[in-house]
Amino acid sequence: MLAGRRVVLGVTGGVAAYKAAYLARRLVERGAAVRTVMTDAATEFIGPHTLAAITGTRPVIDLFDADEVSPHTTLGRWADALVVAPATAATLARLANGLSDDPVSATVLATVAPVVIAPAMHTEMWQHPATVANVERLESFGYHIVSPEVGALAGGDTGLGRLADPDRIADAVAGVLPGGPLTGVEVLITAGGTREPIDRVRYLGNHSSGKMGNAIAVAAARRGANVTLVTAGPGIDHPHVTVVPVETAADMAEAAWRIAETADVAVMAAAVADFRPVVAIDGKLRRAAGPPSIDLEPTPDVLGGIAAMSPRPFLVGFAAETGALDEAVAKARRKGVDLLVSNDVTAPGSGFGTETNQVTIVLPDGSTEPWSLMPKSEVAERLWDRIAELRKREGTSA
Ligand code: CTP
Repeated sequence: MLAGRRVVLGVTGGVAAYKAAYLARRLVERGAAVRTVMTDAATEFIGPHTLAAITGTRPVIDLFDADEVSPHTTLGRWADALVVAPATAATLARLANGLSDDPVSATVLATVAPVVIAPAMHTEMWQHPATVANVERLESFGYHIVSPEVGALAGGDTGLGRLADPDRIADAVAGVLPGGPLTGVEVLITAGGTREPIDRVRYLGNHSSGKMGNAIAVAAARRGANVTLVTAGPGIDHPHVTVVPVETAADMAEAAWRIAETADVAVMAAAVADFRPVVAIDGKLRRAAGPPSIDLEPTPDVLGGIAAMSPRPFLVGFAAETGALDEAVAKARRKGVDLLVSNDVTAPGSGFGTETNQVTIVLPDGSTEPWSLMPKSEVAERLWDRIAELRKREGTSA
């Protein structure tokens, strides 16, 4: 995937900067042409000559004392993809705010190529609300974040914050380049919690944030898919994702069924209301009228409608459960899906509104694969890897 591609590697000043040499080596081994750009602080941690020897070109370390007149724009235009590894907390803050006061941030701001960012820092810094907000902002720009791992940190500490493995980062770079493994594949994703109106101001809803579905959409787009996200949640702003906002289960069914006609893969991550009020009052229920009695009726089964299509897309269902796996296994069979992602919404770190998720993959033959607790973005990546394997087994190419 990287053969003949041009990758700019930005290195910023943390102790993990020495690992940039390994990453540069991996990228070169995979056939990429690599140029590097470093902050001043990065040069305290790794010598520019090391990167020069690995890549065959001298790193840009000073915007005003380089061979080129405007090295950041030259590099930005040259790049097919840009990767910042390691990215310090300060770098994340700079990039999230469009600052360009060092060679790395200036180059990132000056490119239209896809950007991969691999942060590394102490756990407290990674989990600080400022860093969390900066990462969310960077994701909203369409940047791909390769989350840090748990391991040894500077100063003898251990925890979440160690730079991701260089191979994982190189995979992410390969994934963001146009011509990814899902090129030409039409993907439908449902997300968010539907809202069924009771009157003009109230609705029946649920706690779904839409984050899992959004992460799945971003991961598919990064692999080259044409993605349509039908969501009752906040949605995302991404150049390769078409967002169709909906409110109710009926709206979602109408949009999803239409799009599913031409979809290759459908991932049903929405938390769809199973029942809705028979009538939505045109006005406001008044307190003085006493407790209302609200008659409910079933909503359309969005996933069920797609499962019944022939031909139908490769179908992934979700199941928000509150305990043992038995119900998820029965559901995988009953729903007619190719794969079911089950998560226990009562487990710590899992479920509605969290940044992480602990899921179990359930296949129609009843086999189960429990995955460890990981960021939702990582669940999304691995889900696409798993879908690719299963589709390949079925004889579909991507
Ligand atoms: N789903 C759907 N339309 C509905 C209800 C559910 O598309 N009206 C989809 C969800 O997006 C999810 C899957 O079906 O992918 C399973 O949802 P879930 O609520 O767990 O299934 P139910 O059959 O409603 O089971 P339960 O009785 O546990 O609520």
